[in-house]
Amino acid sequence: ATTAHADSTTDKPVVVAHRGASAYAPENTLAAVDKAAELGISWVENDVQRTKDGELVVMHDTTLARTTNVEEVFPDRAPWNVADFTSAEIAKLDAGSWFDAKYAGARVPTLEQYMNRVSRHDQKLVLELKAPDLYPGIEKETLRELRRSGWLDRQHVKHKLVVQSFDAGSVRTVHTLRPDIKTGFLGTPAVAELPEYAEFADQINSSHTTISAGYVAAIQSLKGPHDKPLEIYTWTVDDIPNAVRVTAFGVDGIISNAPDVVRGAVGTG
Ligand code: G3P
Ligand code: CA
Repeated sequence: ATTAHADSTTDKPVVVAHRGASAYAPENTLAAVDKAAELGISWVENDVQRTKDGELVVMHDTTLARTTNVEEVFPDRAPWNVADFTSAEIAKLDAGSWFDAKYAGARVPTLEQYMNRVSRHDQKLVLELKAPDLYPGIEKETLRELRRSGWLDRQHVKHKLVVQSFDAGSVRTVHTLRPDIKTGFLGTPAVAELPEYAEFADQINSSHTTISAGYVAAIQSLKGPHDKPLEIYTWTVDDIPNAVRVTAFGVDGIISNAPDVVRGAVGTG
């Protein structure tokens, strides 16, 4: 373990609730944020996309089919792309029943509603721009919403926010628009290419199935755009053996659907 850890008071990795505490509550809903808070998990991760009428919403898949009852409500609208529905239509959908009947009535949150809830719990956020190639301009719009929600003041930017994406161009855009924001690139670039990513990303966030002690060390030996060691938050780790394995590699963070399990075994936050 090194001083590169996000929580500098400990060598333990920070634990992030993936799509909220999504092992226990429907992913990317306010209920999943609440569940993380109830478990005492201060970091949550989400996925942001855009509706037909330009509202930012929190949803993982680019279609609404898996995590809502859209097929019942709008049977003629296959393939049910997020981008083809208005915010008023999406607001009608049940985003909880698919997970468990006790969550019937949970909604797809707008980013604004989501930010308000995360603020109320005083949580921190790893915000993912999901499939930003489908939503030109979403980087700027997301930053505008974050500013409106009070998340671009110094305290939030310094301590409470990471913006990440699998799309390197999008991460670079965020970094260019607001160089003070901490950013993450999702993926496992070749070691030789890491320095290029380190120009605009503070974190390289890789699947736990793709990393090794050597890869983690290669990341942490570089400096990111804020002249601090490049970090790695790995995903999605839900079991103790893998949590122990990646912690031994020295990862800075672990993104988990079951963050209480991981924190209990190896983590903090
Ligand atoms: O935060 C990492 C992880 O969320 C990336 O994969 O598909 O769950 O968005 P995915
Ligand atoms: Ca994600």
